[in-house]
Amino acid sequence: MQYIPRSHCNISSNRKVVRGAFGKAPLFLPAMRPVKSPLVNPAFSIRLASQRDALAIAEMSRTLIEVGLGWSWTPKRVIRSVQDPETNVAVACRGEVIGGFVIARYLPDRVHIPLFAVERGVRRRGIGRALLRWVETTATTAGIGLIRLEARGTNHAARAFYRAAGYREIALEPRMYGGREAGVRLAKDLWRGRASPAGSA
Ligand SMILES: CC(C)(COP(=O)(O)OP(=O)(O)OC[C@H]1O[C@@H](n2cnc3c(N)ncnc32)[C@H](O)[C@@H]1OP(=O)(O)O)[C@@H](O)C(=O)NCCC(=O)NCCS
Repeated sequence: MQYIPRSHCNISSNRKVVRGAFGKAPLFLPAMRPVKSPLVNPAFSIRLASQRDALAIAEMSRTLIEVGLGWSWTPKRVIRSVQDPETNVAVACRGEVIGGFVIARYLPDRVHIPLFAVERGVRRRGIGRALLRWVETTATTAGIGLIRLEARGTNHAARAFYRAAGYREIALEPRMYGGREAGVRLAKDLWRGRASPAGSA
């Protein structure tokens, strides 16, 4: 039986489908017992988002990520992700306050992160790193060894953040955003560096 980590906050739905790697049938993953999130700042914990969080997440996307591009991650779109059985939307929260969030979509051969941000006032406290690790843990638990995402070319903070977390820049695209702004594709092979089974090459 494979499990997907759940937060220690209350979650309305206790089941989420994550498609298995290599085109296997979707896995129904029951919730684990509550576990402490591995956050550097102990005041924050990670939980799955609910529809009630959609407005806050959409606002963070508008003001922290999509600046100058137009607002595509509206509350309705965030709610669709919350409801999508093959997508996790996770928030790092301190009580009712959301300090950061990540959206992760589980595909047969990879996890794609379309949206990720930490509030300005709580950056450089390990919250982004903890959210990214949360996604990586769910990916490996689901048997998926590859994470992919994109960042704006001018977003040097995010590029440094991902590099520090072991992500490699694999492609630069001159017109990734709105047909006019350059973007960079990043990837992390989660299996890399793992010991191969005894006897294998
Ligand atoms: C990128 C982002 C998510 C990082 O979140 P964070 O919580 O501040 O990151 P962490 O505190 O976990 O940082 C982990 C490490 O990443 C690196 N890092 C993070 N921010 C950095 C920055 N501005 N410059 C250089 N390195 C940085 C550092 O190595 C850092 O470790 P350290 O603080 O011990 O030196 C945050 O800056 C953000 O939300 N930016 C705006 C939205 C965005 O760019 N989203 C991602 C692309 S869609």
